[in-house]
Amino acid sequence: MTTEQDPVKLMKQQVGFAAADRVQSHSIVGLGTGSTTVHALYRLGERLRSGELEDIKGIPTSFQASVLAKELGIPLVTLDDVDHIDIAIDGADEVDPHKNLIKGGGAAHTREKLVDSLADQFIVVVDSSKLVDRLGSTFLLPVEVLPIAITPVMAAIKKLGGQPEIRMGVKKAGPVVTDQGNLVIDVKFDSISNPAELEKTLNNIPGVLENGLFVGVADIILVGEIKDGQPTVRVIS
Ligand code: A5P
Repeated sequence: MTTEQDPVKLMKQQVGFAAADRVQSHSIVGLGTGSTTVHALYRLGERLRSGELEDIKGIPTSFQASVLAKELGIPLVTLDDVDHIDIAIDGADEVDPHKNLIKGGGAAHTREKLVDSLADQFIVVVDSSKLVDRLGSTFLLPVEVLPIAITPVMAAIKKLGGQPEIRMGVKKAGPVVTDQGNLVIDVKFDSISNPAELEKTLNNIPGVLENGLFVGVADIILVGEIKDGQPTVRVIS
């Protein structure tokens, strides 16, 4: 099977393109992070180059998004330059039936939550493997932590019943360092029965910057599926 025929890649591409096609000219667009959102950025770049889309401004959620947007000719601004965000497009690691999410597989959830929450419309792009009945069932919950607070924060998380581990780098010795210069703890909870409460409890631990629970933030989920051998997009709104 070639890369182009890889069903997961095809699903990611379809939802990424579908989300980018919802962006209108003269919009301020939150640019998410991850392998699914990358396809949306490529499509935005294509639409700008063809003239079908004009005058958009992107707000990147990570170094990854900002580097790619520059390569693709998507103009960038910061939160200091705008008074609103029209639309944000971002991926997720898990999506529950209430459109609540776990994010942070790319360690970008702090900036992602900031930008995605500010958007008038937040569109989540996922392949069908990301849909779960209950958050935390397939993915550990990422928590961004100030480096000096790593020991007390891990102790506090253990008291809450979580099993924390520091995320380690791949092709980099030592821990993952976020775009903000912090560390990430991935936490296994046996069951996340009340995501809204856990989101607040974790963020109340001194030294925690942000956790990957996104409760009540997503407006629309675009789900990539394969039906009869063809990639399709299902809309959950
Ligand atoms: C980045 O920190 C994450 O929140 C990503 O948006 C999330 O991990 C989804 O990434 P993929 O689209 O690569 O699965």
